[in-house]
Amino acid sequence: MTKLTLTIDGNEVTAQDGATVLRAALDNGIYIANLCTLDGEAAPMAACRLCFVEVEGKDEPVTACTEPITEGMVVATRGEGAMRLARRSFELLMASHALDCAHCGKLGTCQLHTIAHHLHTRLKSKRLRALSRGLPVDDSHPRIVYDPNKCVLCGRCVATSRRGAGDGTPGFAHRGFERVVTTFEDIPLGEAAVGLDSSCVDVCPTGALLPKLEPASTGSAN
Ligand code: FES
Repeated sequence: MTKLTLTIDGNEVTAQDGATVLRAALDNGIYIANLCTLDGEAAPMAACRLCFVEVEGKDEPVTACTEPITEGMVVATRGEGAMRLARRSFELLMASHALDCAHCGKLGTCQLHTIAHHLHTRLKSKRLRALSRGLPVDDSHPRIVYDPNKCVLCGRCVATSRRGAGDGTPGFAHRGFERVVTTFEDIPLGEAAVGLDSSCVDVCPTGALLPKLEPASTGSAN
């Protein structure tokens, strides 16, 4: 396959012809905020609107996950216009995200913290009122807990379950503020015939899907 050469943030890098700017950047160690992309996914979901970059010759920032690379392309990932759009998307997303970091099993590895740091912004918006979704936590699955209040609707678990299980049980339901990842007919995860597995937990960028903690052993060591 042909390799193309482009410049990202002043660094000359190469990537496969057909790659997106996001993939070219990430594969060359240059971080661009993203939540809804999955390595190996053919069509980008382009749902989170966090991956804005500026491309020389284009009037407006573009989403890096949908922008194919071209030979000689010049990309800036930290231009003020791109950062402003990404911050706005992040602020909207965080307005309905349950901020429970101190008690969250993802503390330390949550990608929301990485993105807030990268965008030089806060997890909690100063301008937008926090909207609590108040959805019930589903702990019916033997190995997984799902808290939809921490779901950022990135779609990674949906795409992953479709890849692995064929008849993927989780999917999106409803629209707007009501939009949620759930099972077909909203049945609890533990009752779904084909459902989430550890690969879905692995791709979740937040604490929405977490492995269940093993109960502490009560046996005495005699
Ligand atoms: S990674 Fe590009 S829109 Fe989500």
